[in-house]
Amino acid sequence: MNNMNQLFNKLDRVLFTQYDSVNATRNPVCLLFDQFKLEDKLFIVTQYSLFSRYIVKFLIEVLYKVSLDGHVLIVEEVRRNIDEELGGSTGYRLPHYILLIKGFKFANLDIYSTNPSIATKNFESMMLAAIYNGDGVYASGVAYALEASAVHELKITREFVIKALQELGVVAPKEIESFFNSHISEIEVMHEARLQEASLQSYSTDQEIAAYGAGFHKAMTVMDAWWHGLAREVPSVN
Ligand SMILES: [Fe+2]
Repeated sequence: MNNMNQLFNKLDRVLFTQYDSVNATRNPVCLLFDQFKLEDKLFIVTQYSLFSRYIVKFLIEVLYKVSLDGHVLIVEEVRRNIDEELGGSTGYRLPHYILLIKGFKFANLDIYSTNPSIATKNFESMMLAAIYNGDGVYASGVAYALEASAVHELKITREFVIKALQELGVVAPKEIESFFNSHISEIEVMHEARLQEASLQSYSTDQEIAAYGAGFHKAMTVMDAWWHGLAREVPSVN
C-alpha cells in the first residue's frame, strides 16, 4: 500500500469522525430539522439546492488550478465531472441543477430565484478562496472532499426534501426522486472513485500527500461552517 492509499483510507474514516456535515447524528440541521417550522424546512432545502449550482463553479476553478500543474489524469477527470454535472455524458440532456429546479417546480418551489443566505454566500466564497489559495494538488484535495461527502450529504438532504414536501402536502415529484437516487447510487459514487483513481496515479510525494489532505480538510471545514451557519439562520428554534 503506498502512502496515497493510506491517505484515502484515513480521509474516508475521518470524514465521519471529524466532520458534522456528513453525519446524520451530528449535522446541526439534522438534529433540529423536525422542530423547524415549514418555512424554515423549505429555507434549508432551497439553500442546499444552490450547491448543485455552485459545484460546477468549484470544479471549474479546480480544473484551472490542476491544468496549471499539468496533471493530465486529474484534468481529464475534473472536466468529465463538470461535463456530467452539465448534463453532457450521463444520458441526461439538462444540467443537473436545472433538473433539480424543474423537479421543485412541480412542488411550486422556485429554486432558480432563491437568493443565497449569508451562510450560503460565505460557503461559496470560502470554497472558491480555498481553491484559489492553494496549488493544484491542494485543489484536488478540495475536489475529493466535495465528491467523497456528496453521497452522505445527499442522503441527509433527501430526507429533508421528503419531509418538507410531505408537510407541504406534496408527494416528492419523480424528477426529484430520480435526481437524488441517481446521484446517491451512481453519479457521486463514480465521481469519488474516478477522482481517487486519478489522484492515486498522479500524486505520491510526501509534500503532495500533505497538500492533498490539507485541501480535503479545508473543504470539509468550510462545509461544516455552512451547515452550522444555516442552522443558526433558522429563526424558529432560536
Ligand atoms: Fe460529484
